[in-house]
Amino acid sequence: MTLRSLLITGAAGEVGSALRGLLREHLQGQFPIIRLTDNRDLGEARTGEELMPADLTDFDAVQKVMQDVDAVIHLGGIPDEDTYANIRAVNMDGTYNVLEAARQASVGRVAFASSIHTVGFYPRSETISPTVPVRPDTYYGVSKVFGEALGRMYWERYGMEFVGVRICSFQPQPKDRRHLSTWLSPRDAAQLFARAVTAPDVGFLVVAGISGNTRRWMSPEGWDVLGYEPQDDAEAYAAEVEHIHGDEDDITEQRQGGIFVDSAYVGRAGQ
Ligand SMILES: NC(=O)c1ccc[n+]([C@@H]2O[C@H](COP(=O)([O-])OP(=O)(O)OC[C@H]3O[C@@H](n4cnc5c(N)ncnc54)[C@H](O)[C@@H]3O)[C@@H](O)[C@H]2O)c1
Repeated sequence: MTLRSLLITGAAGEVGSALRGLLREHLQGQFPIIRLTDNRDLGEARTGEELMPADLTDFDAVQKVMQDVDAVIHLGGIPDEDTYANIRAVNMDGTYNVLEAARQASVGRVAFASSIHTVGFYPRSETISPTVPVRPDTYYGVSKVFGEALGRMYWERYGMEFVGVRICSFQPQPKDRRHLSTWLSPRDAAQLFARAVTAPDVGFLVVAGISGNTRRWMSPEGWDVLGYEPQDDAEAYAAEVEHIHGDEDDITEQRQGGIFVDSAYVGRAGQ
Protein backbone atom coordinates (compact mmCIF):
# COMPACT_ATOMS: atom_id res chain seq x y z
CA MET A 1 0.00 0.00 0.00
CA THR A 2 1.28 3.47 -0.83
CA LEU A 3 0.96 5.98 1.95
CA ARG A 4 0.08 9.14 0.11
CA SER A 5 0.04 12.14 2.33
CA LEU A 6 2.34 13.11 5.21
CA LEU A 7 1.63 16.14 7.41
CA ILE A 8 4.50 17.94 9.15
CA THR A 9 3.57 20.42 11.89
CA GLY A 10 6.08 23.07 12.97
CA ALA A 11 7.47 22.84 9.45
CA ALA A 12 8.90 26.39 9.48
CA GLY A 13 11.10 25.60 12.49
CA GLU A 14 14.69 24.38 12.71
CA VAL A 15 13.96 20.67 12.62
CA GLY A 16 11.06 21.13 10.18
CA SER A 17 13.13 23.16 7.71
CA ALA A 18 15.87 20.52 7.75
CA LEU A 19 13.37 17.68 7.24
CA ARG A 20 11.81 19.60 4.37
CA GLY A 21 15.11 19.36 2.51
CA LEU A 22 16.31 15.92 3.60
CA LEU A 23 13.29 13.73 4.36
CA ARG A 24 12.25 12.81 0.82
CA GLU A 25 15.33 10.68 0.06
CA HIS A 26 14.53 8.45 3.07
CA LEU A 27 10.83 7.95 2.37
CA GLN A 28 11.32 5.17 -0.19
CA GLY A 29 8.56 6.36 -2.48
CA GLN A 30 5.99 6.72 0.28
CA PHE A 31 4.16 10.02 0.70
CA PRO A 32 4.25 11.74 -2.70
CA ILE A 33 2.41 14.60 -0.98
CA ILE A 34 4.00 16.34 2.00
CA ARG A 35 1.69 18.87 3.63
CA LEU A 36 3.44 21.48 5.74
CA THR A 37 1.83 23.52 8.46
CA ASP A 38 2.99 26.22 10.89
CA ASN A 39 1.73 29.55 12.19
CA ARG A 40 4.84 31.21 10.72
CA ASP A 41 5.70 31.85 7.08
CA LEU A 42 6.46 28.61 5.22
CA GLY A 43 7.90 30.29 2.11
CA GLU A 44 7.15 28.93 -1.38
CA ALA A 45 5.82 25.41 -1.99
CA ARG A 46 8.35 23.07 -3.62
CA THR A 47 7.49 20.07 -5.80
CA GLY A 48 5.24 17.64 -3.93
CA GLU A 49 4.53 20.10 -1.11
CA GLU A 50 1.24 21.58 0.06
CA LEU A 51 1.36 24.56 2.41
CA MET A 52 -1.50 24.96 4.88
CA PRO A 53 -0.83 27.52 7.63
CA ALA A 54 -2.69 26.87 10.90
CA ASP A 55 -2.45 27.59 14.59
CA LEU A 56 -2.17 24.39 16.62
CA THR A 57 -4.24 25.90 19.42
CA ASP A 58 -7.25 26.15 17.04
CA PHE A 59 -8.89 22.70 16.85
CA ASP A 60 -11.03 23.54 13.80
CA ALA A 61 -7.97 24.70 11.90
CA VAL A 62 -6.04 21.54 12.85
CA GLN A 63 -9.01 19.41 11.73
CA LYS A 64 -8.93 21.05 8.27
CA VAL A 65 -5.18 20.49 7.92
CA MET A 66 -5.62 16.82 8.88
CA GLN A 67 -8.04 15.91 6.06
CA ASP A 68 -6.74 13.10 3.75
CA VAL A 69 -3.55 12.66 5.77
CA ASP A 70 -2.03 9.16 6.28
CA ALA A 71 0.71 9.99 8.79
CA VAL A 72 1.92 12.95 10.84
CA ILE A 73 5.30 14.22 12.03
CA HIS A 74 4.34 16.52 14.89
CA LEU A 75 7.13 19.04 15.53
CA GLY A 76 5.08 22.17 16.21
CA GLY A 77 5.30 23.77 19.63
CA ILE A 78 7.42 25.74 22.06
CA PRO A 79 10.92 24.13 22.08
CA ASP A 80 12.04 25.62 25.42
CA GLU A 81 10.86 26.31 28.96
CA ASP A 82 8.09 28.94 29.16
CA THR A 83 5.25 29.88 31.51
CA TYR A 84 3.00 27.00 32.47
CA ALA A 85 0.09 28.73 30.70
CA ASN A 86 1.97 28.98 27.39
CA ILE A 87 3.31 25.42 27.62
CA ARG A 88 -0.17 24.10 28.37
CA ALA A 89 -1.83 26.03 25.52
CA VAL A 90 0.66 25.18 22.77
CA ASN A 91 2.46 21.97 23.75
CA MET A 92 -0.29 20.19 25.66
CA ASP A 93 -3.59 21.44 24.20
CA GLY A 94 -1.91 21.79 20.78
CA THR A 95 -0.69 18.19 20.90
CA TYR A 96 -4.14 17.02 21.99
CA ASN A 97 -5.58 18.89 18.99
CA VAL A 98 -3.16 17.13 16.63
CA LEU A 99 -3.76 13.63 18.03
CA GLU A 100 -7.53 13.99 18.34
CA ALA A 101 -7.87 15.45 14.83
CA ALA A 102 -5.63 12.62 13.58
CA ARG A 103 -7.85 10.01 15.22
CA GLN A 104 -10.97 11.58 13.72
CA ALA A 105 -9.32 11.56 10.27
CA SER A 106 -8.28 7.87 10.66
CA VAL A 107 -4.57 8.72 10.46
CA GLY A 108 -2.49 5.56 10.89
CA ARG A 109 0.65 6.87 12.60
CA VAL A 110 1.91 9.94 14.46
CA ALA A 111 5.63 10.56 15.06
CA PHE A 112 6.11 13.05 17.88
CA ALA A 113 9.08 15.31 18.64
CA SER A 114 9.60 14.46 22.29
CA SER A 115 12.66 15.49 24.24
CA ILE A 116 15.56 14.58 26.50
CA HIS A 117 13.84 16.89 29.00
CA THR A 118 11.33 14.11 29.79
CA VAL A 119 14.25 12.52 31.65
CA GLY A 120 16.51 15.53 32.26
CA PHE A 121 17.18 14.82 35.93
CA TYR A 122 18.95 11.50 35.28
CA PRO A 123 22.67 11.71 36.01
CA ARG A 124 25.05 11.70 33.08
CA SER A 125 26.78 8.68 34.61
CA GLU A 126 23.77 6.50 33.67
CA THR A 127 22.86 5.15 30.24
CA ILE A 128 19.09 5.11 30.29
CA SER A 129 16.50 3.16 28.34
CA PRO A 130 13.42 4.88 26.86
CA THR A 131 11.32 2.89 29.35
CA VAL A 132 12.80 4.22 32.62
CA PRO A 133 10.47 6.30 34.84
CA VAL A 134 10.30 9.89 33.59
CA ARG A 135 12.19 12.64 35.42
CA PRO A 136 11.12 15.83 33.62
CA ASP A 137 13.18 18.92 34.37
CA THR A 138 10.74 21.71 33.35
CA TYR A 139 7.08 22.38 32.43
CA TYR A 140 8.41 21.90 28.88
CA GLY A 141 9.65 18.41 29.81
CA VAL A 142 6.31 17.66 31.45
CA SER A 143 4.52 18.67 28.23
CA LYS A 144 6.59 16.09 26.32
CA VAL A 145 5.75 13.42 28.91
CA PHE A 146 2.10 14.40 28.38
CA GLY A 147 2.49 14.03 24.61
CA GLU A 148 3.98 10.55 25.00
CA ALA A 149 1.21 9.54 27.43
CA LEU A 150 -1.45 10.85 25.07
CA GLY A 151 0.18 8.85 22.26
CA ARG A 152 0.09 5.72 24.40
CA MET A 153 -3.61 6.25 25.11
CA TYR A 154 -4.45 6.78 21.42
CA TRP A 155 -2.56 3.56 20.56
CA GLU A 156 -4.13 1.40 23.28
CA ARG A 157 -7.63 2.83 22.94
CA TYR A 158 -7.91 3.49 19.21
CA GLY A 159 -5.05 1.60 17.54
CA MET A 160 -3.38 4.75 16.18
CA GLU A 161 0.36 4.04 16.06
CA PHE A 162 2.74 6.44 17.79
CA VAL A 163 6.51 6.94 17.82
CA GLY A 164 7.95 9.37 20.36
CA VAL A 165 11.41 10.55 19.31
CA ARG A 166 13.24 12.00 22.32
CA ILE A 167 15.33 14.53 20.44
CA CYS A 168 18.35 15.54 22.48
CA SER A 169 20.31 18.28 20.65
CA PHE A 170 19.43 18.87 17.00
CA GLN A 171 22.30 20.95 15.59
CA PRO A 172 24.27 21.23 12.33
CA GLN A 173 27.25 20.11 14.43
CA PRO A 174 28.11 19.74 18.15
CA LYS A 175 28.90 23.03 19.91
CA ASP A 176 30.08 21.84 23.36
CA ARG A 177 31.04 18.76 25.39
CA ARG A 178 27.43 17.92 26.27
CA HIS A 179 26.61 17.66 22.58
CA LEU A 180 29.20 14.88 22.24
CA SER A 181 26.56 12.77 24.03
CA THR A 182 23.33 14.43 22.87
CA TRP A 183 23.87 15.47 19.22
CA LEU A 184 21.33 14.57 16.54
CA SER A 185 22.63 15.49 13.09
CA PRO A 186 20.26 16.76 10.39
CA ARG A 187 20.76 13.71 8.16
CA ASP A 188 20.22 11.31 11.07
CA ALA A 189 17.11 13.26 12.10
CA ALA A 190 15.76 12.89 8.56
CA GLN A 191 16.41 9.14 8.53
CA LEU A 192 14.95 8.69 12.03
CA PHE A 193 11.71 10.60 11.36
CA ALA A 194 11.34 8.91 7.95
CA ARG A 195 11.63 5.48 9.63
CA ALA A 196 9.24 6.61 12.34
CA VAL A 197 6.50 7.07 9.72
CA THR A 198 7.39 4.22 7.31
CA ALA A 199 8.59 1.25 9.43
CA PRO A 200 5.81 -1.37 9.56
CA ASP A 201 3.90 -2.36 12.70
CA VAL A 202 5.57 -0.27 15.36
CA GLY A 203 2.53 0.04 17.64
CA PHE A 204 3.69 2.37 20.40
CA LEU A 205 7.38 3.18 20.70
CA VAL A 206 9.60 5.78 22.35
CA VAL A 207 13.22 6.05 21.16
CA ALA A 208 16.30 8.17 21.73
CA GLY A 209 16.64 10.97 19.15
CA ILE A 210 20.42 11.05 18.81
CA SER A 211 23.13 10.20 16.32
CA GLY A 212 25.35 7.16 16.84
CA ASN A 213 27.34 9.02 19.49
CA THR A 214 30.05 7.01 21.24
CA ARG A 215 29.34 8.92 24.48
CA ARG A 216 25.54 8.66 24.41
CA TRP A 217 23.55 8.59 27.67
CA MET A 218 20.51 6.97 26.07
CA SER A 219 20.36 3.37 24.90
CA PRO A 220 19.48 2.61 21.27
CA GLU A 221 16.52 0.45 22.31
CA GLY A 222 13.85 0.52 19.61
CA TRP A 223 16.11 1.72 16.80
CA ASP A 224 16.10 -1.83 15.40
CA VAL A 225 12.28 -1.82 15.30
CA LEU A 226 12.43 1.29 13.11
CA GLY A 227 15.50 0.18 11.13
CA TYR A 228 17.28 3.42 12.11
CA GLU A 229 21.03 3.23 11.49
CA PRO A 230 22.69 6.55 12.33
CA GLN A 231 25.41 7.78 10.00
CA ASP A 232 27.01 10.30 12.34
CA ASP A 233 28.92 10.16 15.65
CA ALA A 234 29.62 13.40 17.54
CA GLU A 235 32.99 11.95 18.53
CA ALA A 236 34.36 13.26 15.23
CA TYR A 237 34.09 16.76 16.77
CA ALA A 238 35.59 15.88 20.18
CA ALA A 239 38.87 17.71 19.66
CA GLU A 240 36.97 20.88 18.67
CA VAL A 241 34.44 21.04 21.52
CA GLU A 242 35.68 18.85 24.40
CA HIS A 243 36.97 21.88 26.33
CA ILE A 244 33.64 23.77 26.07
CA HIS A 245 31.66 23.06 29.23
CA GLY A 246 30.52 24.63 32.50
CA ASP A 247 31.57 24.14 36.13
CA GLU A 248 31.72 20.38 36.75
CA ASP A 249 30.50 20.85 40.36
CA ASP A 250 27.28 22.43 39.09
CA ILE A 251 24.12 20.31 38.78
CA THR A 252 23.71 21.50 35.17
CA GLU A 253 26.94 19.66 34.28
CA GLN A 254 25.97 16.51 36.18
CA ARG A 255 22.46 15.86 34.86
CA GLN A 256 21.40 15.00 31.34
CA GLY A 257 19.06 17.99 30.94
CA GLY A 258 21.91 20.52 31.23
CA ILE A 259 20.84 24.09 31.92
CA PHE A 260 17.15 23.05 32.07
CA VAL A 261 17.70 21.35 35.48
CA ASP A 262 18.71 24.67 37.08
CA SER A 263 15.77 25.89 39.21
CA ALA A 264 16.56 29.45 38.08
CA TYR A 265 16.20 28.54 34.38
CA VAL A 266 12.92 29.93 32.99
CA GLY A 267 13.66 29.95 29.23
CA ARG A 268 11.20 32.05 27.25
CA ALA A 269 9.27 32.98 30.39
CA GLY A 270 12.09 35.41 31.17
CA GLN A 271 11.88 37.28 27.85
N1 LIG B 1 15.93 21.41 18.41
C1 LIG B 1 16.17 20.50 19.36
O1 LIG B 1 17.33 20.20 19.73
C2 LIG B 1 15.02 19.80 20.03
C3 LIG B 1 15.28 18.97 21.13
C4 LIG B 1 14.22 18.30 21.72
C5 LIG B 1 12.95 18.41 21.22
N2 LIG B 1 12.72 19.26 20.18
C6 LIG B 1 11.34 19.40 19.70
O2 LIG B 1 11.32 19.34 18.29
C7 LIG B 1 10.31 20.20 17.78
C8 LIG B 1 10.92 21.17 16.77
O3 LIG B 1 11.93 21.90 17.43
P1 LIG B 1 12.70 23.09 16.70
O4 LIG B 1 14.04 23.17 17.31
O5 LIG B 1 12.56 22.95 15.23
O6 LIG B 1 11.86 24.32 17.24
P2 LIG B 1 11.38 25.62 16.43
O7 LIG B 1 10.89 26.61 17.42
O8 LIG B 1 12.43 26.06 15.47
O9 LIG B 1 10.14 25.02 15.60
C9 LIG B 1 8.87 24.85 16.19
C10 LIG B 1 7.84 25.36 15.20
O10 LIG B 1 6.55 25.26 15.81
C11 LIG B 1 5.80 26.39 15.40
N3 LIG B 1 4.73 26.70 16.34
C12 LIG B 1 4.87 27.14 17.61
N4 LIG B 1 3.66 27.39 18.13
C13 LIG B 1 2.75 27.12 17.17
C14 LIG B 1 1.34 27.20 17.11
N5 LIG B 1 0.61 27.65 18.14
N6 LIG B 1 0.74 26.85 15.96
C15 LIG B 1 1.46 26.42 14.91
N7 LIG B 1 2.80 26.31 14.90
C16 LIG B 1 3.44 26.67 16.02
C17 LIG B 1 6.82 27.54 15.36
O11 LIG B 1 6.37 28.60 14.53
C18 LIG B 1 8.06 26.84 14.83
O12 LIG B 1 8.21 27.01 13.43
C19 LIG B 1 9.69 20.91 18.99
O13 LIG B 1 8.52 20.22 19.36
C20 LIG B 1 10.74 20.76 20.06
O14 LIG B 1 10.19 20.76 21.36
C21 LIG B 1 13.72 19.95 19.57
